[in-house]
Amino acid sequence: MRTQVAIIGAGPSGLLLGQLLHKQGIDNVILERVAPDYVLGRIRAGVLEKGFADLMREAGVADRMDTEGEVHDGFEIVLNGQRKRIDMKELTGGDAVIIYGQTELTRDLMEARAKSNQITYYEATNVQPHDMLEEQPYVTYMKDGKEYRLDCDYIAGCDGFHGVSRKSIPNDCITEYERLYPGGWLGVLSDTPPVNPELVYVRHERGFALCSLRSQTRSRYYIQVGIEDKVEDWSDERFWQELKRRLPEDLAEKLITGPSIEKSIAPMRSFVVEPMQYGRLFLLGDAAHIVPPTGAKGLNTAASDVYTLYTILTKVYGEGKTELTEKYSEICLRRVWNGERFSWWMTNMLHNFDDTSDFDKKMYTSEIAYYLDSDAGMRVIAEQYVGLPFDKIE
Ligand code: APR
Ligand code: PHB
Repeated sequence: MRTQVAIIGAGPSGLLLGQLLHKQGIDNVILERVAPDYVLGRIRAGVLEKGFADLMREAGVADRMDTEGEVHDGFEIVLNGQRKRIDMKELTGGDAVIIYGQTELTRDLMEARAKSNQITYYEATNVQPHDMLEEQPYVTYMKDGKEYRLDCDYIAGCDGFHGVSRKSIPNDCITEYERLYPGGWLGVLSDTPPVNPELVYVRHERGFALCSLRSQTRSRYYIQVGIEDKVEDWSDERFWQELKRRLPEDLAEKLITGPSIEKSIAPMRSFVVEPMQYGRLFLLGDAAHIVPPTGAKGLNTAASDVYTLYTILTKVYGEGKTELTEKYSEICLRRVWNGERFSWWMTNMLHNFDDTSDFDKKMYTSEIAYYLDSDAGMRVIAEQYVGLPFDKIE
């Protein structure tokens, strides 16, 4: 079998790329290791930058996002028990984010893919890219016990942090940069009204907390927990009690609790691989970089890779500009490192890690207080939170 672009992985990166390429008449096949329901079972963040939302619109899959998603003009940061609102709209001259869960967005992309004539092989195992430095690379995979070969012009590695794409690049051709944080985020999803209509990020001596939401009837809360903690250690009751202790009094009083419908612990990691390509294999999203969740940049940084590859391939097939493919990594990495820096900074500012010295803790408290006390400081936070514009590609 032959296609123009072989896409490995049907997470948000692979599905969005596939849909955008399809719209441009570029043929693609997606190979995904697990079943669709498994992909949809992953609960992840839900804050979309304007650039991401615009890409969904360009892909023709934004109807539900635009009707059911909530536009948020601001969010809060709590420091020393004091709530401070960052008015993103005011501070950035009109920008905002959309709150729409990654699960919903993935479902919309899957439905659009099913309606298109593009092929997706779910439960494809032993996926392996080959000949990435040649003109005609290919991918082999197993499906229902048989081995197949997919010939293509380019391979898009959208297979997440544990995928095969990055691992297929020889070690001496890439450099990995990593920071692991000594803690995790325990998240609870519940069908209870959110404690505040907008997101609230809390710095507290007992550890970070975040009040987020999926809608005005479904809440998503997180608390920072120890690196060794297991979900089983945290009954719903213990979770709600701990969350309340970290919230300012007025919010703690208003908090409505209920049974968790999902509970999980996410590790905190910063990771980048350079370069993000090897010949005709391109890495996108979590396959190339991971951020700690504090700035809500994971999905959005993945979207900027998708935008970059989609724009390049459109010019390759439409205008014959094949030389643009060599710039993919360089263009992506500029925005990736920005997202990494913001996520790392927000993480340091808002968490209380055991490995931080007392002196550094004072420095972080003073630094975040300085930003929150000045319009210029708040603008710096706001413009990064709503997202920097995508690079022009010519
Ligand atoms: N072969 C085929 N598919 C694979 C393989 C493999 N060897 N390994 C992993 N996959 C699939 C996974 O099952 C998953 O569905 O690749 C997909 C990768 O999806 P994600 O991990 O969601 O990564 P990505 O699409 O880049 O999404 C961006 O942003 O909010 C963050 O981390 C969050 O997932 C989110 C990410
Ligand atoms: C979420 O709603 O899951 C969420 C929101 C903001 C973040 C991280 C996660 O920074």
